[in-house]
Amino acid sequence: MPPQPAQFLVTGGAGFIGSNFVRHLVEHTDAHVTVLDKLTYAGDRTTLADLPPGRVELVEGDIADAALVDRLVADLGDDGVLVHYAAESHNDNSLSDPSPFVQTNLVGTYTLLEAARRHGTRLHHISTDEVYGDLELDDPARFTESTPYNPSSPYSSTKAGSDLLVRAWVRSFGVRATISNCSNNYGPWQHVEKFIPRQITNLVDGVRPRLYGAGANVRDWIHADDHSSAVLAIIERGRIGETYLIGADGEHSNLDVVRLLLRLMGRDEDDYDLVTDRAGHDMRYAIDSTKLRRELGWEPRYTSFEEGLASTVAWYREHEDWWRPHKEQTEAKYAKAGQ
Ligand code: NAD
Ligand code: DAU
Repeated sequence: MPPQPAQFLVTGGAGFIGSNFVRHLVEHTDAHVTVLDKLTYAGDRTTLADLPPGRVELVEGDIADAALVDRLVADLGDDGVLVHYAAESHNDNSLSDPSPFVQTNLVGTYTLLEAARRHGTRLHHISTDEVYGDLELDDPARFTESTPYNPSSPYSSTKAGSDLLVRAWVRSFGVRATISNCSNNYGPWQHVEKFIPRQITNLVDGVRPRLYGAGANVRDWIHADDHSSAVLAIIERGRIGETYLIGADGEHSNLDVVRLLLRLMGRDEDDYDLVTDRAGHDMRYAIDSTKLRRELGWEPRYTSFEEGLASTVAWYREHEDWWRPHKEQTEAKYAKAGQ
C-alpha cells in the first residue's frame, strides 16, 4: 500500500458530497483536512460542525481567488492532495443563469490547476456522468471511460470543460491528476432543490411530489457514502492521468423513485403531480464502473436502493432544522418556472 496522504485540501467541502468526503476522511484516515468553500446558497458550515476542529479547518473563500488558492495549495506540502468538489451543481439553476457556472466550474478549476502546476501538487477532480450526454431508454449501452463527451446543459458543459482542462494540464504540464465521473448521488445533507430531498420535504409538508414531464427519465443512483469510498480508493491506488467512472448499478425512473418515496412515507403511490419539463432534459444516465471495480477492487456498500432511501427519509425527518430555512425560497423559484 502507498503511504496515506497526511494533508488534504477539499474544495466545496461544505456542500452535499464534499462534506460526505470530509467525514469519510475523518473516519477512515488520520489526515488533516482543510476545506475551501465559498459558502454559496449550497454550502453550509453546519455540514461540518460535528467534526473534530483539530482534524478539519474551514476556510471561507472562492476557488477563483488565485492568491488564496496559491497559499492553501503551497501549505499542502509535498505529500498533500487537492480534491476538487466545488462547483455550481444544479441543472435547473444553470438554465436560469449560466454565469456562475462558467465562473466557478471553468475559471475556478483553471485557478486550481495553475496552483497545482506551480507547486507540483497531486489533484483529484470530481466530475459527473452528465459530461457524456444522455442515452435512450432502450439503449443496452452504459457510459464507459471511452464514451465521447456530449454534454447538454450549461451545467454539464462547464463540467465537461473543466474535465478537459484537467486532461490538458496533465498532458501539457505533467500535473499529477486523476478524474472521476460519478452518477446521481443521494443521502443526507443534499440541498432541497435536488430531486430526492425536494420530494421528501414536500411529503413532510403534505405537498404532492413534482415530476418533470412524464417522469420517464432515468437516473443511476448511488449513495454519497459509496461515492466517497470510491474517491479515496482512486486517490490511494488510482493511476495518474486516468479517468474512473463511479456508479452502483442503481438505474430507476423518476416515477419509480417517487412511487417508492410515497410508499416509504405512508402515502398512496399515485399521489404525485406531473409538472413542466426541464428544457433539454437528459433522458437516461447509466454507468459501467467495471474499470474502478476491477482495477481498484472497489465495491459499493449500499446494494439496496430502498434501504438507502429509507435511511435518507429518516435523516430528513430528523434534520428539519437544517433544511427548513431553504425550503420556501427554493419552492418559490420552482413555482415561477411552473414546476
Ligand atoms: P453542492 O451544490 O451541494 O455543493 C457545492 C459546494 O461548492 C458548496 O458548498 C458551495 O458553497 C461550494 N462552492 C460553489 N462555488 C464555489 C466557489 N466558487 N468557490 C468555493 N466553493 C464553492 O454540490 P454537490 O452535489 O455536493 O456536488 C459536488 C461536486 O460533485 C460537483 O463538482 C458536482 O459536479 C459533482 N457531482 C455531483 C453529483 C450529484 O449527484 N450531486 C454527481 C456527480 C458529480
Ligand atoms: O448525474 C449526476 C448529476 O446528478 C450531477 O452532476 C448533478 O450535480 C446533480 O444535480 C444531478 O443532476 P440531475 O439533473 O440528474 O439531478 P436533479 O436532482 O436535479 O434531478 C434528477 C431527476 O429528477 C432529473 O431527471 C430531473 C427530475 N426532477 C427534478 C426535480 C428537482 C423532477 O422530476 N422533479 C423535480 O422536482
